[in-house]
Amino acid sequence: MSEEKKQAEQLLESFNFEFESFNNLSEQSLTFIEAESRLKELNDFSTKYRGNKSELQNLKRMIGKVPPEERKQFGVFVSTELNNHFDRKINDALIFLNSFINVYKIERERLDVTLPGTRPREGHLHLLTILRQKVEDIFVSLGYSIEDDREIETDYYNFDALNIPEGHPARESQDTFYTTNGFALRSQTSTVQIRAMERRGVPIRIIAPGRVFRRDTPDLTHTPMFHQIEGLCVDKNITMAHLKGTVGEWLRRLFGKETRIRLRPSYFPFTEPSAEFDFSCFKCGGTGTFETERCRPCKGSGWIELGGSGMVHPNVLRACNVDPQIYSGFAFGFGLERMCSLMYSLDDIRLMFENDVRFLEQFK
Ligand code: DAH
Repeated sequence: MSEEKKQAEQLLESFNFEFESFNNLSEQSLTFIEAESRLKELNDFSTKYRGNKSELQNLKRMIGKVPPEERKQFGVFVSTELNNHFDRKINDALIFLNSFINVYKIERERLDVTLPGTRPREGHLHLLTILRQKVEDIFVSLGYSIEDDREIETDYYNFDALNIPEGHPARESQDTFYTTNGFALRSQTSTVQIRAMERRGVPIRIIAPGRVFRRDTPDLTHTPMFHQIEGLCVDKNITMAHLKGTVGEWLRRLFGKETRIRLRPSYFPFTEPSAEFDFSCFKCGGTGTFETERCRPCKGSGWIELGGSGMVHPNVLRACNVDPQIYSGFAFGFGLERMCSLMYSLDDIRLMFENDVRFLEQFK
């Protein structure tokens, strides 16, 4: 056997030996990463055995130098048998690895458009906001404007202009939060009466919803911050009948046509005369009994106390440069949290400020 033929036989042997690990690829359980690194190895292997500088190409170039009697057989062996053997083995493995990788990629990138998406959680308004907006809508439809003003006030707006003089018990009883330089967190929305009359003059019809602050220790019925809605109507010839009519209309629109209201004499420094207003219980209709039991919201009395009201004190009008000989008006104010907890039978008003969605979600 010629030297060249021997070389060719050896090449075949080493090819078969080295190719061993690519032989049964389909029976090996490859991971994606393994398949990719096997493909790289296979490409290097292919260059080594089939590339321009490979032994095989070298042998092909030697065909002419083989003695004539062996040349044909050697030629067929090198350029057909060896060549085809290498091609078949390497190409089969390439096809297998490439398709394995493709299938894996397609699988990995598959998108199931029917899977449920991650929906943004739907928000909704806070129950206090919902009630505030209901009240606002009613008053806007009665010709009132919504007035908004500052939460940090001077003593003048919180007390003096509202006819609450220095040393008046209301100043103590309201237990105000004071800052170090003479400011106070407003303890009632009545301050907006003054601000609004200064800004808009009279005649005026406004409601002013907003936060108020009092030095209360939180408990079932108190929080140091809560909301009030203030109402003010000043015009010529305004009487207590207008007050009663307006409050009655508002509460009938909120709680139903049958709702009755009553005014009880009271005292507030900024109104004269003053009255507290109650309305017939929305649950028992004023009977005090609900499903044979003592009605809860009204505690069996049939009436729910809601807020304070009265005819605007002449001193308050004067403080706003309004002549009490020409103009008169009524005002009222009530707490939103109290109204909310009555309507929804909440026994702890702190729930409204804890922002626990399990609670809030119940009031859409
Ligand atoms: N400001 C009072 C309070 O915080 C409520 C109030 C009473 C408001 C009588 C008024 C009113 O406008 O006329 O308790």
